[in-house]
Amino acid sequence: MKILAIETSCDETAISIIEADGSFNDAKFKILSNVVHSQVAEHAPYGGVFPALAKREHSKNLTQVLFKALGLDLVSKSQVILANPISNDKLKEIEKILDREPELLEQFLELIPTLEIPDIDAIAVTHGPGLEPALWVGINFAKALSIVWNKPVIATNHMLGHVFSAFMDEQEFSISDIQFPMLTLLVSGGHTELILMKDFGTYEKIGQTRDDAVGEAFDKVARLLELPYPGGPEISRLAEKFDSSESQQAPKLEFPRPMLHSKDFDFSFSGLKTSVLYTVKKIGKLTQADKEEIAHEFQQAAIDVLVKKTIQAAQKYGAKIVILGGGVAANNKLRKQLTEAVEKNLPNSIIQIPDIKFTGDNAAMIAIAAYFTYLKSGFTKEPLKIEADGNLSL
Ligand code: KG4
Ligand code: ZN
Repeated sequence: MKILAIETSCDETAISIIEADGSFNDAKFKILSNVVHSQVAEHAPYGGVFPALAKREHSKNLTQVLFKALGLDLVSKSQVILANPISNDKLKEIEKILDREPELLEQFLELIPTLEIPDIDAIAVTHGPGLEPALWVGINFAKALSIVWNKPVIATNHMLGHVFSAFMDEQEFSISDIQFPMLTLLVSGGHTELILMKDFGTYEKIGQTRDDAVGEAFDKVARLLELPYPGGPEISRLAEKFDSSESQQAPKLEFPRPMLHSKDFDFSFSGLKTSVLYTVKKIGKLTQADKEEIAHEFQQAAIDVLVKKTIQAAQKYGAKIVILGGGVAANNKLRKQLTEAVEKNLPNSIIQIPDIKFTGDNAAMIAIAAYFTYLKSGFTKEPLKIEADGNLSL
């Protein structure tokens, strides 16, 4: 089965085509294309993702990203041959669906009819969680394509995509021998949660942040240190410098490890961020060495809590596989320390961490999650009724 997946939940406009085969216990995948168009540069001046801008950028770029994913260049008007003209009744429906995305509608009507119907069996689309205005653009695009190409749709959960991203490989790979319970630590700009999967269909959120997501805390602390957005990679780079600096002394700073000893599996990062704020204010003019030390100590405080709670949850629920997923899973120190902690404390469990290439948002992971969603419950019954759900849970 070939799946074309569309992902627009945050600030990447992404489309991928994969080929999937097999069952829950032995699924095989081939990534045929995986295009990600990042909006980071557009959002950087705002120091975070600005939803209205994300929506506008998705509208502007989706058609071009689709052509790239299909291995085609955008055609110019003079070359246009209509391979698949849109009938009048379909045209009315599409105008209604893309009513709120005039730029996308215009490109859709001009360019989609120039395409032959692609060799795919279904269209998958992220319907949450994420930024609703951004999600809607992808959903509406998927609906419009499903009408002109007559293809079924699979509404897919973004977080399930991050879970399966841990198993992805460059081109061809299989996902087999998955053992339950499987525990995922999902860490991104919008989420920090522990998800327990007892089976392919049953997911339970056993813990989550009560305030900021950990990626958000990295971004906010980066701003306090006057580093560019997104802050995560910047903080981790500075922290590494602190580690490797020749004149390294024992760190003088100490930040709190919020909720480290709470009995539940919830997190909180806003107090940690505030503690950094006070330190920055107290120091006044920050030297490079101050910034490196703050980055190092902040990062270690966040990682300590993430690792400890994940290990405790894995022990309590007897997790056979521990997964790390989401944008913050790109953090080298988190990858290393979680791996070491699993090896040390959970000798009967394995840890699965995505290749750095697949930690950020992409549509290949959505296509894989869509395949499993399809195996479990088939195509989405009424695709034109799919709605964006910013808080969709697994
Ligand atoms: O999953 P993602 O690409 O987007 C969503 O939020 O859904 O995650 C982006 C987040 C940002 O907050 C970014 O600062 C953080 O992941 N991030 C990192 C690193 N690379 C990206 N945080 C810590 N260390 C990193 N190396
Ligand atoms: Zn994400």
